[in-house]
Amino acid sequence: MSETSGASGTSESSAAAEASEPSQAGGAPAGQADGGASAGPPAPGFGNYQNDIYLNGLDGQLPRFTTDLTLLGASAREHLDPGAFGYLAGAAGSGATHRANRAAFDRHRLVPRMLRGPAPRDLSTTVLGTRMPAPVLLAPVGVQSIIHPDGELATARAAASVGVPMVLSTASSHTVEEVAEANGPDGTRWFQLYWPNDDDVCVSILERARDAGFTTLVVTLDTWTLAWRPQDLDQSYLPFIRGVGTAIPFSDPAFRAGLEKTPEEDVISAVLRWVPMFTGTDRSWDQLPFLREHWDGPIVLKGVLHPDDARKAADAGMDGIVVSNHGGRQVDGAIAALDALPGIVEAVGDRLEILFDSGIRTGSDVLKALALGARAVLVGRPYAYGLAHGGEDGVRHVLRSLLADLDLTLGLSGHRTPGELSADSLQSGV
Ligand SMILES: Cc1cc2nc3c(=O)[nH]c(=O)nc-3n(C[C@H](O)[C@H](O)[C@H](O)COP(=O)(O)O)c2cc1C
Repeated sequence: MSETSGASGTSESSAAAEASEPSQAGGAPAGQADGGASAGPPAPGFGNYQNDIYLNGLDGQLPRFTTDLTLLGASAREHLDPGAFGYLAGAAGSGATHRANRAAFDRHRLVPRMLRGPAPRDLSTTVLGTRMPAPVLLAPVGVQSIIHPDGELATARAAASVGVPMVLSTASSHTVEEVAEANGPDGTRWFQLYWPNDDDVCVSILERARDAGFTTLVVTLDTWTLAWRPQDLDQSYLPFIRGVGTAIPFSDPAFRAGLEKTPEEDVISAVLRWVPMFTGTDRSWDQLPFLREHWDGPIVLKGVLHPDDARKAADAGMDGIVVSNHGGRQVDGAIAALDALPGIVEAVGDRLEILFDSGIRTGSDVLKALALGARAVLVGRPYAYGLAHGGEDGVRHVLRSLLADLDLTLGLSGHRTPGELSADSLQSGV
Protein backbone atom coordinates (compact mmCIF):
# COMPACT_ATOMS: atom_id res chain seq x y z
CA MET A 1 0.00 0.00 0.00
CA SER A 2 1.14 3.48 -0.62
CA GLU A 3 2.68 5.73 2.05
CA THR A 4 -0.36 7.62 3.10
CA SER A 5 -1.00 7.52 6.77
CA GLY A 6 -0.38 10.05 9.49
CA ALA A 7 0.97 10.10 13.02
CA SER A 8 1.05 12.52 15.85
CA GLY A 9 4.74 12.27 16.59
CA THR A 10 4.07 11.59 20.26
CA SER A 11 6.94 11.65 22.70
CA GLU A 12 7.36 7.87 22.54
CA SER A 13 8.33 7.87 18.91
CA SER A 14 11.80 8.16 17.55
CA ALA A 15 10.36 10.61 15.09
CA ALA A 16 9.44 12.81 17.99
CA ALA A 17 12.92 12.37 19.37
CA GLU A 18 14.32 13.63 16.10
CA ALA A 19 11.75 16.37 15.95
CA SER A 20 12.15 17.50 19.53
CA GLU A 21 15.85 18.26 19.39
CA PRO A 22 16.38 21.90 20.34
CA SER A 23 16.21 24.14 17.31
CA GLN A 24 18.37 27.23 17.38
CA ALA A 25 18.02 28.51 13.85
CA GLY A 26 14.82 26.67 12.92
CA GLY A 27 11.76 28.78 12.56
CA ALA A 28 13.64 32.03 12.00
CA PRO A 29 11.35 35.03 11.82
CA ALA A 30 9.38 35.45 8.63
CA GLY A 31 10.79 37.98 6.23
CA GLN A 32 14.38 37.00 6.68
CA ALA A 33 16.27 36.23 3.53
CA ASP A 34 16.57 32.82 2.03
CA GLY A 35 20.30 32.47 2.46
CA GLY A 36 21.02 32.68 -1.24
CA ALA A 37 18.36 30.14 -2.04
CA SER A 38 17.24 31.96 -5.14
CA ALA A 39 15.97 30.17 -8.25
CA GLY A 40 18.48 29.27 -10.94
CA PRO A 41 21.48 27.01 -10.92
CA PRO A 42 23.84 27.45 -7.99
CA ALA A 43 27.41 28.59 -8.56
CA PRO A 44 29.81 25.77 -9.39
CA GLY A 45 31.09 24.13 -6.24
CA PHE A 46 28.32 23.27 -3.85
CA GLY A 47 30.41 24.49 -0.92
CA ASN A 48 29.93 28.04 -2.23
CA TYR A 49 26.53 28.09 -0.60
CA GLN A 50 28.45 28.75 2.59
CA ASN A 51 29.97 31.90 1.06
CA ASP A 52 26.54 33.05 -0.15
CA ILE A 53 25.15 32.75 3.36
CA TYR A 54 28.01 34.61 5.01
CA LEU A 55 27.95 37.36 2.36
CA ASN A 56 24.20 37.79 2.78
CA GLY A 57 24.89 38.19 6.46
CA LEU A 58 26.75 41.42 5.69
CA ASP A 59 23.36 42.79 4.61
CA GLY A 60 21.77 41.49 7.77
CA GLN A 61 20.13 38.56 6.02
CA LEU A 62 20.00 35.19 7.74
CA PRO A 63 19.05 31.86 6.22
CA ARG A 64 15.27 31.56 6.25
CA PHE A 65 15.57 28.46 8.41
CA THR A 66 18.28 26.33 9.88
CA THR A 67 21.20 24.92 7.93
CA ASP A 68 21.42 22.05 10.44
CA LEU A 69 19.28 19.39 8.81
CA THR A 70 19.15 17.33 12.01
CA LEU A 71 17.02 20.10 13.54
CA LEU A 72 14.47 20.45 10.77
CA GLY A 73 11.94 18.05 12.23
CA ALA A 74 11.40 20.26 15.26
CA SER A 75 10.73 23.41 13.28
CA ALA A 76 8.65 21.57 10.62
CA ARG A 77 6.16 20.77 13.37
CA GLU A 78 5.40 24.51 13.60
CA HIS A 79 4.38 24.60 9.93
CA LEU A 80 2.12 21.55 9.78
CA ASP A 81 -1.10 20.38 11.31
CA PRO A 82 -0.60 17.47 13.72
CA GLY A 83 -1.79 14.80 11.30
CA ALA A 84 0.48 15.91 8.48
CA PHE A 85 3.43 16.33 10.82
CA GLY A 86 2.90 12.85 12.18
CA TYR A 87 2.69 11.38 8.72
CA LEU A 88 5.96 13.00 7.77
CA ALA A 89 7.97 12.47 10.94
CA GLY A 90 6.37 9.20 12.05
CA ALA A 91 7.83 5.73 12.11
CA ALA A 92 6.67 2.16 12.67
CA GLY A 93 5.86 0.83 16.13
CA SER A 94 8.13 2.04 18.89
CA GLY A 95 10.38 3.89 16.45
CA ALA A 96 13.31 1.57 17.23
CA THR A 97 14.34 1.24 13.58
CA HIS A 98 14.21 4.98 13.00
CA ARG A 99 16.50 5.52 15.99
CA ALA A 100 18.77 2.67 14.88
CA ASN A 101 19.22 4.31 11.47
CA ARG A 102 20.71 7.41 13.02
CA ALA A 103 22.70 5.55 15.68
CA ALA A 104 24.39 3.41 13.00
CA PHE A 105 26.03 6.46 11.44
CA ASP A 106 27.63 7.32 14.75
CA ARG A 107 29.42 3.97 14.87
CA HIS A 108 31.49 4.95 11.84
CA ARG A 109 33.87 7.90 11.91
CA LEU A 110 35.72 9.53 9.05
CA VAL A 111 39.50 9.58 9.40
CA PRO A 112 40.57 12.84 7.69
CA ARG A 113 43.79 12.98 5.68
CA MET A 114 45.88 16.13 5.34
CA LEU A 115 47.89 18.02 2.70
CA ARG A 116 46.38 16.17 -0.22
CA GLY A 117 45.27 19.34 -2.03
CA PRO A 118 41.67 18.23 -2.35
CA ALA A 119 40.51 21.02 -4.66
CA PRO A 120 38.93 21.45 -7.10
CA ARG A 121 36.53 18.73 -6.16
CA ASP A 122 34.21 16.88 -8.49
CA LEU A 123 31.18 15.33 -6.85
CA SER A 124 29.53 14.27 -10.10
CA THR A 125 28.71 10.69 -10.91
CA THR A 126 26.62 8.59 -13.25
CA VAL A 127 24.20 6.02 -11.88
CA LEU A 128 22.38 3.71 -14.27
CA GLY A 129 22.92 6.14 -17.10
CA THR A 130 21.70 9.16 -15.13
CA ARG A 131 24.33 11.85 -14.88
CA MET A 132 24.09 13.69 -11.55
CA PRO A 133 26.16 16.53 -10.05
CA ALA A 134 26.50 14.68 -6.74
CA PRO A 135 25.68 11.14 -5.59
CA VAL A 136 22.40 12.31 -4.04
CA LEU A 137 18.79 11.82 -5.16
CA LEU A 138 15.47 12.85 -3.67
CA ALA A 139 13.74 9.78 -2.25
CA PRO A 140 10.12 9.12 -3.20
CA VAL A 141 7.89 10.77 -0.62
CA GLY A 142 4.15 10.43 -1.16
CA VAL A 143 1.24 12.79 -0.59
CA GLN A 144 3.33 15.96 -0.56
CA SER A 145 0.28 18.24 -0.86
CA ILE A 146 -0.38 17.68 2.84
CA ILE A 147 3.04 19.24 3.48
CA HIS A 148 2.68 22.21 1.11
CA PRO A 149 -0.01 23.11 -1.45
CA ASP A 150 2.52 22.93 -4.31
CA GLY A 151 3.63 19.47 -3.14
CA GLU A 152 5.62 17.48 -5.69
CA LEU A 153 5.59 20.40 -8.15
CA ALA A 154 7.67 22.48 -5.75
CA THR A 155 9.99 19.54 -5.16
CA ALA A 156 10.38 18.96 -8.91
CA ARG A 157 11.26 22.61 -9.53
CA ALA A 158 13.77 22.76 -6.68
CA ALA A 159 15.39 19.48 -7.75
CA ALA A 160 15.79 20.71 -11.33
CA SER A 161 17.25 24.04 -10.21
CA VAL A 162 19.97 22.27 -8.23
CA GLY A 163 20.40 19.47 -10.78
CA VAL A 164 19.53 16.68 -8.35
CA PRO A 165 17.41 13.77 -9.68
CA MET A 166 14.06 13.25 -8.03
CA VAL A 167 12.22 9.97 -7.57
CA LEU A 168 8.48 10.52 -7.87
CA SER A 169 6.18 8.39 -5.70
CA THR A 170 3.17 6.52 -7.09
CA ALA A 171 1.32 8.18 -4.19
CA SER A 172 1.93 11.62 -5.64
CA SER A 173 -0.55 14.46 -5.17
CA HIS A 174 0.09 15.52 -8.77
CA THR A 175 0.10 13.52 -11.99
CA VAL A 176 3.28 12.25 -13.63
CA GLU A 177 2.66 14.68 -16.48
CA GLU A 178 2.32 17.69 -14.16
CA VAL A 179 5.44 16.77 -12.21
CA ALA A 180 7.41 16.22 -15.41
CA GLU A 181 6.41 19.65 -16.64
CA ALA A 182 7.47 21.24 -13.34
CA ASN A 183 10.75 19.32 -13.46
CA GLY A 184 11.34 20.63 -16.97
CA PRO A 185 13.34 19.40 -19.94
CA ASP A 186 16.62 19.58 -18.04
CA GLY A 187 15.34 17.83 -14.91
CA THR A 188 16.29 14.23 -14.24
CA ARG A 189 13.56 12.05 -12.84
CA TRP A 190 12.99 8.46 -11.84
CA PHE A 191 9.62 6.89 -11.07
CA GLN A 192 8.81 4.82 -7.98
CA LEU A 193 6.21 2.11 -8.38
CA TYR A 194 3.86 0.73 -5.80
CA TRP A 195 3.07 -2.31 -7.87
CA PRO A 196 -0.70 -2.50 -8.54
CA ASN A 197 -2.24 -5.96 -8.71
CA ASP A 198 -4.18 -4.89 -11.80
CA ASP A 199 -1.79 -5.45 -14.71
CA ASP A 200 -3.58 -3.08 -17.08
CA VAL A 201 -3.38 -0.23 -14.59
CA CYS A 202 0.25 -1.07 -13.87
CA VAL A 203 1.21 -1.04 -17.55
CA SER A 204 -0.71 2.17 -18.18
CA ILE A 205 1.05 3.97 -15.31
CA LEU A 206 4.44 2.73 -16.50
CA GLU A 207 3.78 3.93 -20.04
CA ARG A 208 2.74 7.35 -18.79
CA ALA A 209 5.86 7.62 -16.65
CA ARG A 210 8.09 6.70 -19.58
CA ASP A 211 6.31 9.15 -21.88
CA ALA A 212 6.77 11.88 -19.27
CA GLY A 213 10.54 11.37 -19.24
CA PHE A 214 11.03 9.24 -16.13
CA THR A 215 14.07 7.15 -16.99
CA THR A 216 14.56 4.62 -14.19
CA LEU A 217 11.94 2.54 -12.40
CA VAL A 218 12.24 2.14 -8.63
CA VAL A 219 10.01 -0.67 -7.36
CA THR A 220 9.31 -0.46 -3.65
CA LEU A 221 9.09 -3.91 -2.07
CA ASP A 222 8.71 -3.11 1.63
CA THR A 223 5.33 -1.38 1.73
CA TRP A 224 2.88 -3.86 0.25
CA THR A 225 0.78 -3.02 3.28
CA LEU A 226 1.18 -0.28 5.85
CA ALA A 227 3.01 -1.02 9.06
CA TRP A 228 1.46 -0.59 12.50
CA ARG A 229 2.06 3.09 13.11
CA PRO A 230 0.61 4.07 16.46
CA GLN A 231 1.06 7.76 15.88
CA ASP A 232 -0.99 7.55 12.67
CA LEU A 233 -3.58 5.32 14.23
CA ASP A 234 -4.02 7.48 17.31
CA GLN A 235 -5.00 10.41 15.10
CA SER A 236 -6.89 8.23 12.64
CA TYR A 237 -5.10 10.21 9.96
CA LEU A 238 -5.10 8.60 6.52
CA PRO A 239 -5.09 11.20 3.73
CA PHE A 240 -5.27 8.54 1.08
CA ILE A 241 -8.79 7.45 1.98
CA ARG A 242 -9.88 11.06 1.40
CA GLY A 243 -8.51 10.93 -2.12
CA VAL A 244 -5.23 12.71 -1.35
CA GLY A 245 -2.10 11.25 -2.93
CA THR A 246 -4.13 9.54 -5.63
CA ALA A 247 -3.49 11.85 -8.59
CA ILE A 248 -1.69 9.21 -10.62
CA PRO A 249 -4.35 6.46 -10.54
CA PHE A 250 -7.26 8.91 -10.64
CA SER A 251 -5.91 10.43 -13.85
CA ASP A 252 -5.12 7.07 -15.37
CA PRO A 253 -7.30 5.90 -18.27
CA ALA A 254 -6.96 2.21 -17.40
CA PHE A 255 -7.91 2.86 -13.78
CA ARG A 256 -10.80 5.11 -14.73
CA ALA A 257 -12.08 2.50 -17.19
CA GLY A 258 -12.76 0.21 -14.24
CA LEU A 259 -14.96 2.73 -12.43
CA GLU A 260 -18.71 3.19 -12.79
CA LYS A 261 -18.42 6.87 -11.87
CA THR A 262 -15.39 9.09 -12.29
CA PRO A 263 -13.31 9.96 -9.19
CA GLU A 264 -14.60 13.53 -9.55
CA GLU A 265 -18.17 12.25 -9.26
CA ASP A 266 -17.58 9.63 -6.55
CA VAL A 267 -14.26 9.86 -4.78
CA ILE A 268 -15.06 7.21 -2.17
CA SER A 269 -15.72 4.51 -4.76
CA ALA A 270 -12.52 5.43 -6.57
CA VAL A 271 -10.56 5.19 -3.32
CA LEU A 272 -12.17 1.87 -2.48
CA ARG A 273 -11.06 0.50 -5.84
CA TRP A 274 -7.53 1.87 -5.49
CA VAL A 275 -6.92 0.59 -1.95
CA PRO A 276 -7.27 -3.14 -2.77
CA MET A 277 -4.85 -2.69 -5.64
CA PHE A 278 -2.18 -2.04 -3.03
CA THR A 279 -3.09 -3.54 0.30
CA GLY A 280 -2.18 -7.15 0.78
CA THR A 281 -0.43 -7.21 -2.56
CA ASP A 282 2.84 -8.89 -1.80
CA ARG A 283 4.65 -9.93 -4.95
CA SER A 284 7.07 -12.74 -5.67
CA TRP A 285 10.48 -12.83 -7.30
CA ASP A 286 9.17 -14.79 -10.26
CA GLN A 287 6.88 -11.90 -11.22
CA LEU A 288 9.73 -9.48 -11.92
CA PRO A 289 9.96 -10.39 -15.63
CA PHE A 290 6.56 -8.70 -16.03
CA LEU A 291 8.14 -5.39 -15.08
CA ARG A 292 11.11 -5.99 -17.33
CA GLU A 293 8.70 -6.67 -20.18
CA HIS A 294 6.90 -3.36 -19.64
CA TRP A 295 9.79 -1.07 -18.72
CA ASP A 296 12.70 -0.66 -21.10
CA GLY A 297 14.93 1.40 -18.78
CA PRO A 298 16.86 0.40 -15.67
CA ILE A 299 14.93 -1.20 -12.79
CA VAL A 300 15.90 -0.75 -9.14
CA LEU A 301 14.35 -2.65 -6.21
CA LYS A 302 13.90 -0.51 -3.10
CA GLY A 303 13.80 -1.91 0.41
CA VAL A 304 16.42 -4.66 0.28
CA LEU A 305 18.09 -5.48 3.63
CA HIS A 306 19.31 -9.08 3.33
CA PRO A 307 22.22 -10.24 1.15
CA ASP A 308 20.16 -13.20 -0.11
CA ASP A 309 17.45 -10.83 -1.37
CA ALA A 310 20.14 -8.75 -3.03
CA ARG A 311 21.42 -11.89 -4.76
CA LYS A 312 17.87 -12.67 -5.89
CA ALA A 313 17.58 -9.20 -7.35
CA ALA A 314 20.77 -9.75 -9.30
CA ASP A 315 19.68 -13.23 -10.40
CA ALA A 316 16.39 -11.71 -11.61
CA GLY A 317 18.32 -9.37 -13.88
CA MET A 318 17.57 -6.20 -11.97
CA ASP A 319 19.93 -3.26 -12.45
CA GLY A 320 20.12 -1.96 -8.92
CA ILE A 321 18.77 -1.98 -5.39
CA VAL A 322 18.17 0.59 -2.69
CA VAL A 323 19.35 -0.69 0.67
CA SER A 324 16.59 0.87 2.78
CA ASN A 325 14.22 0.23 5.65
CA HIS A 326 11.90 2.99 4.43
CA GLY A 327 13.22 5.41 7.00
CA GLY A 328 12.16 3.08 9.83
CA ARG A 329 8.52 3.32 8.78
CA GLN A 330 7.77 -0.34 8.09
CA VAL A 331 9.36 -3.04 10.29
CA ASP A 332 9.80 -1.88 13.87
CA GLY A 333 12.96 -3.42 15.28
CA ALA A 334 14.47 -4.00 11.84
CA ILE A 335 18.17 -3.74 11.22
CA ALA A 336 19.54 -0.24 10.59
CA ALA A 337 19.87 0.23 6.86
CA LEU A 338 23.51 1.30 7.22
CA ASP A 339 24.30 -1.91 9.10
CA ALA A 340 22.86 -3.92 6.20
CA LEU A 341 24.95 -2.11 3.60
CA PRO A 342 28.43 -3.73 3.91
CA GLY A 343 27.14 -7.30 3.71
CA ILE A 344 25.05 -6.50 0.67
CA VAL A 345 27.94 -4.73 -1.05
CA GLU A 346 30.08 -7.77 -0.41
CA ALA A 347 27.39 -10.07 -1.81
CA VAL A 348 26.43 -8.22 -5.00
CA GLY A 349 28.57 -5.10 -5.32
CA ASP A 350 29.99 -6.38 -8.58
CA ARG A 351 26.58 -7.23 -10.05
CA LEU A 352 24.25 -4.38 -9.11
CA GLU A 353 24.26 -0.64 -8.58
CA ILE A 354 23.74 -0.25 -4.85
CA LEU A 355 21.97 2.83 -3.59
CA PHE A 356 21.21 3.63 0.02
CA ASP A 357 18.67 5.50 2.10
CA SER A 358 17.30 5.76 5.65
CA GLY A 359 18.81 8.23 8.08
CA ILE A 360 20.86 10.52 5.83
CA ARG A 361 20.92 13.98 7.41
CA THR A 362 24.42 15.43 6.84
CA GLY A 363 27.22 15.50 4.31
CA SER A 364 29.19 13.25 6.60
CA ASP A 365 26.35 10.68 6.53
CA VAL A 366 26.52 10.65 2.74
CA LEU A 367 30.29 10.09 2.83
CA LYS A 368 29.95 7.22 5.28
CA ALA A 369 27.38 5.45 3.11
CA LEU A 370 29.60 5.92 0.05
CA ALA A 371 32.65 4.67 1.97
CA LEU A 372 30.68 1.54 2.88
CA GLY A 373 30.00 0.88 -0.78
CA ALA A 374 26.87 2.78 -1.86
CA ARG A 375 27.09 4.43 -5.28
CA ALA A 376 24.61 7.13 -4.31
CA VAL A 377 22.15 7.95 -1.55
CA LEU A 378 18.55 9.06 -1.37
CA VAL A 379 17.38 11.60 1.17
CA GLY A 380 13.79 11.57 2.41
CA ARG A 381 12.44 13.49 5.39
CA PRO A 382 14.93 16.40 5.30
CA TYR A 383 13.75 17.76 1.96
CA ALA A 384 10.14 17.17 2.91
CA TYR A 385 10.77 19.21 6.06
CA GLY A 386 12.21 21.88 3.76
CA LEU A 387 9.00 21.75 1.74
CA ALA A 388 7.06 22.35 4.94
CA HIS A 389 9.20 25.37 5.79
CA GLY A 390 9.11 27.12 2.45
CA GLY A 391 7.82 25.18 -0.54
CA GLU A 392 10.21 25.21 -3.49
CA ASP A 393 12.67 27.58 -1.79
CA GLY A 394 12.62 25.40 1.29
CA VAL A 395 13.48 22.26 -0.64
CA ARG A 396 16.24 24.13 -2.46
CA HIS A 397 17.71 25.41 0.81
CA VAL A 398 17.82 21.88 2.20
CA LEU A 399 19.43 20.50 -0.95
CA ARG A 400 22.02 23.24 -1.16
CA SER A 401 22.80 22.89 2.54
CA LEU A 402 23.26 19.13 2.29
CA LEU A 403 25.39 19.38 -0.86
CA ALA A 404 27.52 22.20 0.57
CA ASP A 405 28.12 20.18 3.71
CA LEU A 406 28.95 17.14 1.55
CA ASP A 407 31.35 19.11 -0.65
CA LEU A 408 33.17 20.74 2.25
CA THR A 409 33.40 17.56 4.32
CA LEU A 410 34.63 15.59 1.33
CA GLY A 411 37.44 18.09 0.84
CA LEU A 412 38.28 18.54 4.50
CA SER A 413 38.58 14.79 4.93
CA GLY A 414 41.15 14.75 2.13
CA HIS A 415 39.22 13.63 -0.93
CA ARG A 416 38.58 15.11 -4.36
CA THR A 417 35.86 12.76 -5.57
CA PRO A 418 33.32 10.43 -3.99
CA GLY A 419 35.05 7.54 -5.76
CA GLU A 420 38.12 7.98 -3.54
CA LEU A 421 36.17 6.91 -0.47
CA SER A 422 36.46 3.37 0.80
CA ALA A 423 36.23 1.48 4.07
CA ASP A 424 39.79 2.73 4.70
CA SER A 425 38.33 6.24 4.98
CA LEU A 426 36.49 5.15 8.12
CA GLN A 427 37.12 3.86 11.57
CA SER A 428 34.16 1.59 12.23
CA GLY A 429 32.69 0.03 15.34
CA VAL A 430 33.51 3.03 17.51
C1 LIG B 1 6.42 11.04 4.57
C2 LIG B 1 7.10 9.94 3.82
C3 LIG B 1 6.48 9.38 2.72
C4 LIG B 1 7.11 8.37 2.00
N1 LIG B 1 6.52 7.89 0.87
C5 LIG B 1 7.14 6.94 0.15
C6 LIG B 1 6.58 6.49 -1.06
O1 LIG B 1 5.52 6.93 -1.49
N2 LIG B 1 7.26 5.52 -1.74
C7 LIG B 1 8.45 5.00 -1.29
O2 LIG B 1 9.02 4.13 -1.94
N3 LIG B 1 9.00 5.45 -0.15
C8 LIG B 1 8.39 6.41 0.56
N4 LIG B 1 8.97 6.88 1.70
C9 LIG B 1 10.28 6.36 2.12
C10 LIG B 1 11.41 7.19 1.49
O3 LIG B 1 11.47 6.97 0.11
C11 LIG B 1 12.78 6.81 2.08
O4 LIG B 1 12.98 5.43 1.99
C12 LIG B 1 12.95 7.27 3.52
O5 LIG B 1 12.30 8.48 3.77
C13 LIG B 1 14.43 7.41 3.83
O6 LIG B 1 14.63 7.71 5.16
P1 LIG B 1 14.88 9.20 5.71
O7 LIG B 1 13.53 9.85 5.77
O8 LIG B 1 15.46 8.95 7.04
O9 LIG B 1 15.82 9.90 4.76
C14 LIG B 1 8.36 7.90 2.42
C15 LIG B 1 8.99 8.47 3.53
C16 LIG B 1 8.36 9.50 4.22
C17 LIG B 1 9.07 10.12 5.38
